[in-house]
Amino acid sequence: MRVTVNQIKEMKQKGEKIAMLTAYDYPTAKIIDEAGIPLILVGDSLGMVVLGYESTIPVTMEEMLHHTKAVVRGTKQAMVVGDMPFMSYHVSADDALYNAGRFIQEGGAQAVKLEGGVSVMEKVTRLVGCGIPVMGHIGLTPQSIHQLGGFKVQGKTPEAAQRLLEDAIALEEAGAFAIVLETIPAQLARIITARVSIPTIGIGAGIYCDGQVQVISDILGSYTDFVPKHAKQYAKLSDIISKAVNQYQSEVKAGSFPTEKQSFSIDESLLAELKLEEKD
Ligand code: KIV
Repeated sequence: MRVTVNQIKEMKQKGEKIAMLTAYDYPTAKIIDEAGIPLILVGDSLGMVVLGYESTIPVTMEEMLHHTKAVVRGTKQAMVVGDMPFMSYHVSADDALYNAGRFIQEGGAQAVKLEGGVSVMEKVTRLVGCGIPVMGHIGLTPQSIHQLGGFKVQGKTPEAAQRLLEDAIALEEAGAFAIVLETIPAQLARIITARVSIPTIGIGAGIYCDGQVQVISDILGSYTDFVPKHAKQYAKLSDIISKAVNQYQSEVKAGSFPTEKQSFSIDESLLAELKLEEKD
């Protein structure tokens, strides 16, 4: 049985911190799921850390669904949240419902996430009304990067902080089951977390959130183009991979790979039956 929306909400009531991670492929999702992480986000960060785009804006529904299916196949207990990509929910509530439905029906996800607060309230209400659990996402919302003018800390003026508080309240009223708070001051995250009854999941939003989410490639050190300040590297996979690749190349060149251990054999007497025609 997978983690449910009610269980996630109860974690806040019980004061139990929520650990959430992104995943984009079957083997990684399997490891995260087996560790007992309750929430796995197939983030549109996929575009940057896996597909090599400069931002999340080019990511399409087809790319998201392709990776969501892989993550779902690798998981048994976690709730898988599909991240709705740019323009998959912007035009209309009908569009939002159609694409959210694809995440659930085709992708096998149990919930979707979308960016925005007051501005997406109507869409969140519509999705939740149709039985699709929604996670909100406010603060630094990467799909609005051109509007925000870069990956900057949000909510730093009283007006901007007030707007974020109102966004969080709007998401709760619309029926979202949790809200990601990205790159906002820790003190503001504390106020929002105390104000709403649904869990806040922070990324670059400090210690007072009900939970934390990190991009798996950031904590594993497998994506080296850019390491955000909020990320802690628990491993440096890029170094491990690079060392293994170099060693493999050296051994192939030196003729020391493969050895007998990695080879297969046939009875020599059978080879004697081969008709080896001489080449002119
Ligand atoms: O796309 C993503 O990985 C996200 C997280 C950073 C919350 O939205």
